[in-house]
Amino acid sequence: MCGIVGYAGERECTGILVNALEKLEYRGYDSAGIAIFEGDRIKTVKAKGKIREGLVQRLRMEAHFSAVSGIGHTRWATHGEPSDINSHPIGNGRVSIVHNGIIENYRRVKEFLTDKGYGFESETDTEAVAKLLDYNYNGDPLDTIIKTIADIEGAYALGIMFREHKNRIFAVRKESPLIVGKGNGEMFIASDVTAIIEHTKEYYLLEPGEIADITKDGVTFYDIHKNVIEKELSVVDWDISAAEKGGYAHFMLKEIHEQPEALKRTISPRIKDGMPDFSECGLTDEKLRAYRHIYFVGCGSAMHAGIVGKYVVESLARTPVIMDIASEFRYRSPLLSPDDLVVIISQSGETADTLAALKLSNEIGADTLAIVNVVGSSIAREAKMVMYTLAGPEISVCSTKAYMVQTAFMYLIAFRVAYARNMIDEQTCKKYISMLEGVPALVEHCLADQTQYQKVAARLMSTDSLLYIGRGLDYALSMEGSLKLKEISYIHSESYAAGELKHGTISLIEDGMPVIAVATQHNLYEKTASNVKEVKSRGATVIMVCSETLKSEMADIDYPIYLPVTDDILMPLVAVVPLQLIAYYTAALKNFDVDHPKNLAKSVTVE
Ligand code: G6P
Repeated sequence: MCGIVGYAGERECTGILVNALEKLEYRGYDSAGIAIFEGDRIKTVKAKGKIREGLVQRLRMEAHFSAVSGIGHTRWATHGEPSDINSHPIGNGRVSIVHNGIIENYRRVKEFLTDKGYGFESETDTEAVAKLLDYNYNGDPLDTIIKTIADIEGAYALGIMFREHKNRIFAVRKESPLIVGKGNGEMFIASDVTAIIEHTKEYYLLEPGEIADITKDGVTFYDIHKNVIEKELSVVDWDISAAEKGGYAHFMLKEIHEQPEALKRTISPRIKDGMPDFSECGLTDEKLRAYRHIYFVGCGSAMHAGIVGKYVVESLARTPVIMDIASEFRYRSPLLSPDDLVVIISQSGETADTLAALKLSNEIGADTLAIVNVVGSSIAREAKMVMYTLAGPEISVCSTKAYMVQTAFMYLIAFRVAYARNMIDEQTCKKYISMLEGVPALVEHCLADQTQYQKVAARLMSTDSLLYIGRGLDYALSMEGSLKLKEISYIHSESYAAGELKHGTISLIEDGMPVIAVATQHNLYEKTASNVKEVKSRGATVIMVCSETLKSEMADIDYPIYLPVTDDILMPLVAVVPLQLIAYYTAALKNFDVDHPKNLAKSVTVE
């Protein structure tokens, strides 16, 4: 949901800003722009479209640049269609801003300013803030910012420039993330460290209500009463190569291949003496025994990981789990109590609905545990307990390795809850852990021969619609497979509990319609096989992703894909890989921009 960057230093900054924005394109790619200090004015260049196609082309038409400070923005449109005029930076020559988030009371602010004689060009909520800054401007940027943020409501991270304060960049935030990077004789702001990692690994996390006053020589932080505050410097613990494609055609493909390593990194620190161990966050067996209910809450793929979690916790620990979509959870007055545990799952740690669900759970007094990938993100900081998935940066909008490690966490939780509640003994728990440790090798195995997925993709690319079916854990997995395919290949697909097909959806089956059946659960295989026969006899082309132990049963399947086996309960971690790759190759064959699917953004910071 929009990426913002800023630079103050000694180098010509146009290229630095554009490069940094490209790293944030996963956050939105409807339009992009920069504003730089040039002479005694602020120069703005912005354009509709992706950075390379819009902004970069427009910059090429300009003369030579010599600015050493500026701000930039890549947009995911909320207020106003993608257009040059609605692009950021937005300002009036005296003030220029870039904004990530939503200003909820922008209409009231606009009315107030219209009465004062201000005109508005764009349809954005952001313009209300830019003009309010101008209205409040008294020569002192800090006073101006403090007065302005007192009057705006909503979520924001803002990068701000005042023409009269050359080569100074200001930043302030509430809800939306923002970091301040510390280089050598140069400083940065960015929505995410990936934007600046090629320049520095050192950064400060700006907290809500804090203001950063930045020049090339450093940063001073203030609270909203204009008191100077000291902040701790953090250091990124991954390398620039993690944020580059490294020879792969797309980040998605690279991230799919990174899954074995991501799995090992995530699970190994949580295993002690062969048992799942959550001492890092204080989640004790005593607590796990005492919780009345466990909730899993998330959006998108994170929600799908939670669905797998529900199945495995209920089946192993015989403990009720409520799985909720974050945007539904918060508005349905959940029957939550202080005796419950709410596990919040999120890659970015910034998803607005998930964050709101977490805040609600905290208010009610429930225990909250965040399973988050981005260190220091809002969800990580709001939760009472946090454990980080160690997937490394996930750049492709379509989540793969983050889903994988979130799901792995579901198993760690399930094993420990089951053990704490005496549903499995130590030996069984250790057996499960040892099988979980064997999963990365099975994922490697699925990555080895990709021609089988390419063949399926070649068959799917010309289809308009298809179904994913499965039972139990295979149904949970079908949801993720279907989401992957539709988000990047734009082919309509639905996932269906295989047994439910005959209650309506089977009427959609016609000659040649693809059906992807997932069958990894041996106790359910016969049932799913019957459902496959039902669709096949009505003309469906069946792609079956199933355990290799079922090979002998696959005689009449059009496209069988065999999986190496482990215990049935762990099979989602293996079977998701072919589903990811089928989606990937279908979109790639269609020549779509796999990493930046239309209308989507990776970090959804609006409701
Ligand atoms: C967006 C992304 C999905 C992701 C979901 C939740 O829709 O495109 O890939 O699963 O948000 O994001 P989170 O960062 O909370 O896991």
